[in-house]
Amino acid sequence: MKKKVVLAYSGGLDTTLSLNLLKEKQGYDVITLTINIGNEKNWEEVKQKAIEMGAIDSIVVDLKETFAEDFVLYALQASALYENRYPLATALARPLMAKSLVNTAGKKGAVAVAHGCSGKGNDQLRFEHAIASLNPDLDILAPIRDGEVKRTESLRFLKQKEGRDTDDVFSIDENIWGRSIECGIIEEEWIEPPSSIYSMTKEIVDTPDKAVYLEIKFEYGKPVEINGIQLSFLQIIEELNAIGGLHGVGRVDHMESRVVGIKSREIYEAPAALILHSAHKELEYLNLTKRQLDLKKYIADLYADLIYQGLWYTGFHRDLRMYILSTQTAIHGTVKIKLFKGNVSIVGRKSEYSLYDREISSYETFDGFDSQTATGFIKLHGLESVIQIRKQKDLLIGNTQSFKSLPEEQ
Ligand code: ARG
Repeated sequence: MKKKVVLAYSGGLDTTLSLNLLKEKQGYDVITLTINIGNEKNWEEVKQKAIEMGAIDSIVVDLKETFAEDFVLYALQASALYENRYPLATALARPLMAKSLVNTAGKKGAVAVAHGCSGKGNDQLRFEHAIASLNPDLDILAPIRDGEVKRTESLRFLKQKEGRDTDDVFSIDENIWGRSIECGIIEEEWIEPPSSIYSMTKEIVDTPDKAVYLEIKFEYGKPVEINGIQLSFLQIIEELNAIGGLHGVGRVDHMESRVVGIKSREIYEAPAALILHSAHKELEYLNLTKRQLDLKKYIADLYADLIYQGLWYTGFHRDLRMYILSTQTAIHGTVKIKLFKGNVSIVGRKSEYSLYDREISSYETFDGFDSQTATGFIKLHGLESVIQIRKQKDLLIGNTQSFKSLPEEQ
């Protein structure tokens, strides 16, 4: 009897070739596992195709809801944007896929799991860290990476096998949290991406000339309503992808630092992710103190790196998550946003736990704020610098240009 392997299968170029290599070159019985987390696909066709390509079984599971609730929401509450730009759609999906691979391998009696990642990307790392954490006894196979298969070779294979031509030059990965586009002409970092690569977002010239306003309500940092209508988090994401995309919101063109030390040009489309991140952040600005915000910023970067580096199933993650959850205790309220010509603007915000108090902050009133206390406070606040100037005047002046006298004083 042949050994069984469960392959993460999208029906795309690399995973189709992987299926072929595992079966023909390595002699495995291949079970394909396709996970629906919101990519636009004909699932029956994908299933059918796997069987035609020689899989002994092909499984499709819908994990959209789980992905939204147990992965995407964590990233949103953390304000996790890798290098301040990338909402991490692809990266977040990998630990979920790994879990599903491991479970399926258990159920089907497979000795190995496989993925179709190349040796230059991040995804191999995410799959393998997660799989090893969940079941260290499983073998992990990576036929594309280990065979050092070039993309052009994969394309040739597909052409032979299916008569399919080069419409797959771009490597695309898509789910409810966004769409990642790599390869082809966009590897030229000076070239503007052709409009044909986009599918979630409209070109600005094709967007409506009238802005749309939306009110998004949050509870514990989780979006729960749009314009007064209660929706699941998944429904909210789907709704915002549609309306955001219509207004051209959500494109990102990024020179990214991969884990393996390579810079790469990445194009993303993520309307819902970018809208929700800015709305959610707005409530944090309203309801968290300066100190809470400062630490949260640092945690957000750590958390984004953790997702990016595939360290999902770790104690470090648990620790950060506990902190983030605690910060969300006060994140209740509603944010009013305006979508227009590719921009998402925050135009209003309100919350029962808002730290903003118009009475205190307005320059028109003095209630609740004793101006006299400002004088003493300023003295103490500046004391450190006053002492330094007194003790180190010669060291400060002359060190940098801006400490020297102005031209007219010379
Ligand atoms: N650079 C992104 C990341 O590392 C996207 C990767 C996209 N993957 C793909 N197979 N097209 O998360």
